[in-house]
Amino acid sequence: MIHKSPSGLLCEPFKQAEPFNLWDVRLFCPQKKKAHMQPTPPPLSQIETPTDSYVARYPWAIEMANQQQAIFWPAEELGVEEDEQDFRIGLNEAERHGVLTAQSILTQYELMIGGEELWGGKIAKLFPRPEIQRMAACFANVELGSHAPFYDLANKVMGNSTDEFYSSWKKDPVLSERIAFINECTQSTDALEVTAALAFLEGAVLFTALGFFKGFNARGFNLIPHFVAGIDGSAKDENFHSIASARLFRECKEERIKAGNHSPEQDIKLADKIISIAATVVEHERRIADLLFAVPGNRVVSKHELLHFLEDRVDVVLNRLNMPAMFGHEKGEISTWFYQQLSTVKVPDFFASTQLQYTRNWAKHRLAFKKEMADVR
Ligand SMILES: [Fe+2]
Ligand SMILES: [Fe+2]
Repeated sequence: MIHKSPSGLLCEPFKQAEPFNLWDVRLFCPQKKKAHMQPTPPPLSQIETPTDSYVARYPWAIEMANQQQAIFWPAEELGVEEDEQDFRIGLNEAERHGVLTAQSILTQYELMIGGEELWGGKIAKLFPRPEIQRMAACFANVELGSHAPFYDLANKVMGNSTDEFYSSWKKDPVLSERIAFINECTQSTDALEVTAALAFLEGAVLFTALGFFKGFNARGFNLIPHFVAGIDGSAKDENFHSIASARLFRECKEERIKAGNHSPEQDIKLADKIISIAATVVEHERRIADLLFAVPGNRVVSKHELLHFLEDRVDVVLNRLNMPAMFGHEKGEISTWFYQQLSTVKVPDFFASTQLQYTRNWAKHRLAFKKEMADVR
């Protein structure tokens, strides 16, 4: 309902949020003063404020939505079934064990990150603006419509696409603790905590699994190439998502500071929380690595290399959140080839069918994984 203030200005209480501080609206609409005094807390920043407008205040989010759509890859077209021999015979026992262990939880990650818990619900609710919701919807579509079915295809090839397999993580204390941790992060009502945690999930947790898989098609190994082509596609997507989540975090924090809603004391508390999230991610990944390498003899990647990659990735994400590095050491072995291989445009050859070149509106410059993107925001 539109009300007229004594000064003749029109106002639409509880709806429009430009300017974002709802308490400002009260000044122009005295007859609704009482209603406005309801104990609904004012939004902390513009990016957290609902709006009826479709005018984009965050054009970078539209750009990210468009870029994500331009590199969308359908899981079914990568030919993962061609890797069946490798999955069954080409991998040795240690490698097969590692792949199965990683696969037993990966789909669950995708469902949570793309589902109601994060991009598919929570993020859109925390940032109720059309351009942010559009970006979140595009990312959710990728997690649920491309990544999760892609991992399922590999499970089908290995004969593991079963109810038992998909709930097997519940029986493992380490894996179920990890899922409980993700649940806990997503239940926070603070957008800064949620986006910081999401940046780690996308940029460090998933990347550690991707680093493990990518070893099968690196350093002279040519195992499960079709599957690894999907890993390349996922790495580009997840990197993008981590960057977007960190961007939401920084925008939101900056706006809260400007609005006087983020004090230095709150900032110290937030930094402590981020360090605690990072430390928990590292602790869980170390224990998960124990599981991945429980059977000795993996030829393609070592536990030491994978843990070093994890630490590299944690520092990348901390940097995106404007936080100091936790490890600050030289990049490890996997970091030296992980990005390089993704940015290389492979010539059509034996691997042609594994490339993502069929994608609609395919453009090399969009698909190329820019190395600098891994380290910058
Ligand atoms: Fe994903
Ligand atoms: Fe993602």
